Amino acid sequence: MPESLDLALIGAGGRIAGDWLAVANHADSPFRITKLVETETVARARLGALPDLDALLEGERPAAAIVATPPATHADIAVRLAEAGVHILCEKPLATTLADAEAMVHAARAAGVRLMMASKFRFVDDVAEASKRIAEGAIGQPVFYDNAFCGHVDMGTRWNSDARISGGGVLIDNGAHAIDLARFLMGEVERVLAATGPRLQPVEVEDSVRILFETCSGALGRADLSWSVDIGSTSYAAVHGSEGSIELGWKGARLRTREGWLPFGGGYDKHRAFGNQLAHFADVIRGAADPRIGDDDALASVRFVDAARRSLREGRWCRLTEVHA
Ligand SMILES: NC(=O)c1ccc[n+]([C@@H]2O[C@H](COP(=O)([O-])OP(=O)(O)OC[C@H]3O[C@@H](n4cnc5c(N)ncnc54)[C@H](O)[C@@H]3O)[C@@H](O)[C@H]2O)c1
Repeated sequence: MPESLDLALIGAGGRIAGDWLAVANHADSPFRITKLVETETVARARLGALPDLDALLEGERPAAAIVATPPATHADIAVRLAEAGVHILCEKPLATTLADAEAMVHAARAAGVRLMMASKFRFVDDVAEASKRIAEGAIGQPVFYDNAFCGHVDMGTRWNSDARISGGGVLIDNGAHAIDLARFLMGEVERVLAATGPRLQPVEVEDSVRILFETCSGALGRADLSWSVDIGSTSYAAVHGSEGSIELGWKGARLRTREGWLPFGGGYDKHRAFGNQLAHFADVIRGAADPRIGDDDALASVRFVDAARRSLREGRWCRLTEVHA
């Protein structure tokens, strides 16, 4: 077993940080959380965390850091960490603008550190298996893709509904997951059409959105995203091809061939996906693996959101190549 790597957690008092703490502190973890950073005073006192990046970087520097702060803060934090020689696993969405995302990627490349966008669905075992089976031709040529990340979440008092902090509404929030999952299963996206549903929460951003997209190979996809509607589905994504289908369910996946449906996998397990992701991040840092999610994937997800935002404003299909920093 290689020695564990020192890890800092930025935004340590937050919701998703709780999951990262549990997973990184697990006995199987390749990391050891040695430092926490939190700006909010009550959470900071409870955790014994450092107040800011200055305090983190003036001491012995960790090998890596997880950035689990609100989206508008990601770029400044990641650039400073990169310049200090710290590898970065940054929560989704990578950034609220393409210019910020490019600055982050540039800083990491210039410093020779790894910057990975956290994208848990790529690390769900069933999703990895589905991607492999699609690539092997199990469902023939993929033609249709369906995804829904919908559920009731009251965003009235959370930063998620403040576009200056979040970069927008459910499109960038749940959309960051949707887009990366779609690209992982279906390949590069060429163009996108987005529309909002009726706004059901007293917020200034969209709380329900439907996105249609076309991939470079001509396949057609749809993603429904909502903080205000629970569609009650047992599955979150499906790919339909010329020879069959793959459906990714919360409790298990299944493959449909001419013989009928065959179940596989164990469903969605958030902490297992986070654990897989951390193990992969450690392998990448140690040079033992190529990143399963690279700079191009991270930038493409930001481009996709930008193109979808433009589509919402202009009411037309928008190509991802129209988006420039
Ligand atoms: N992967 C997932 O499934 C998932 C789920 C939820 C949230 N997220 C992402 O995780 C990030 C955090 O979301 P959250 O819901 O946990 O938010 P949160 O508000 O619960 O937590 C963020 C924490 O960061 C702290 N903070 C803010 N600015 C800081 C700074 N400059 N330095 C240090 N700490 C700072 C806040 O005080 C807060 O404790 C977002 O990017 C979000 O999109 C990912």
